[in-house]
Amino acid sequence: MIQVFVTRRIPDAGLRVLEGRATVAIGQTDEERALDRSVLLRGVREADVILSLLTEQVDRELLEANPGLLGVANHAVGFDNVDVAVATELGIPVSNTPGVLTEATADLTWALLLAVARRIVESDAYVRKNKFNIWSPNLLLGADVGAGPVGHKKILGIVGFGRIGQAVARRAAGFDMEVLAHDPSHRDRVEAFPGVGWSDLDELLATADFVCLHPRLSPSTRHLIDETRLGQMKPTAYLVNVSRGEVVDEAALVRALREGWIAGAALDVYENEPGLAHGLTDLPNAVLVPHIGSASKDTRDRMAVLAATNALSHLLGERAPHCVNPRVYETEAWRKRTGRARA
Ligand code: GLV
Repeated sequence: MIQVFVTRRIPDAGLRVLEGRATVAIGQTDEERALDRSVLLRGVREADVILSLLTEQVDRELLEANPGLLGVANHAVGFDNVDVAVATELGIPVSNTPGVLTEATADLTWALLLAVARRIVESDAYVRKNKFNIWSPNLLLGADVGAGPVGHKKILGIVGFGRIGQAVARRAAGFDMEVLAHDPSHRDRVEAFPGVGWSDLDELLATADFVCLHPRLSPSTRHLIDETRLGQMKPTAYLVNVSRGEVVDEAALVRALREGWIAGAALDVYENEPGLAHGLTDLPNAVLVPHIGSASKDTRDRMAVLAATNALSHLLGERAPHCVNPRVYETEAWRKRTGRARA
């Protein structure tokens, strides 16, 4: 019997937390490969708890596959890959790894923003192709991120003002920018944040020089940035997405970049990950990285430790430190699953 089924290999720091405390099986140890759905289903049927990666769709079929399943510990802060409503209905706690990846993801947002504005990827390719023959005043000109010699502050627009959006805002102080934020569920938070102004989405898109996306993926944020929204942005503006690919209509973005509706985009995430919209890789004004928002060594170790800690709590039928559906602990379905008597 497996106690914790780890869908794909996680950093050793997380496996060490489980060592000696639970019997563990790993579905896919080749880190470059996906896990077959049949292996995933078998693992879920045989395990008490699953420790899933964001690449696994934890849907109704999977959640119903094992009436004894005690929890899903997702190795990510996002949990849109898990059908939390169904998990709650079935009495299954779901947990995530918030907090530990905030700073690394905000760092990557800024790395991408600077890279696309200052054409770092194109410049790197230029040097590697031995094209750098002489310094030249018009070579690879980009956009200022700070005020620059013209002197007027650039506007950073942050869509989604959770932990990561706020960490991005904090970093903007060093660039002396005007910062606007939009988050319909957290207007108070935006207004209380020093140096950040509330903006509705239309105004933010129409005025920002840089638009960074940090909302959680939900039905209301799927394709939040579509053809119409891209058309509202300034032709000199840049879009950075480090949230979830589905927040942007990627085919519309390709058109916007190709036809110059906006100046550039930098993406960490994709609508049909790892697939890319047709034409995206041909665009010089797009910077593309493979979903590495939280990919620093220390951050990924901490995420693995947190996911493993959550998994052990699920296994013991205890409240997980980072449960995203805590209502589940009040349900009859959870009591039945864990064999607990009504309190
Ligand atoms: C990464 O995308 C995460 O949600 O942790």
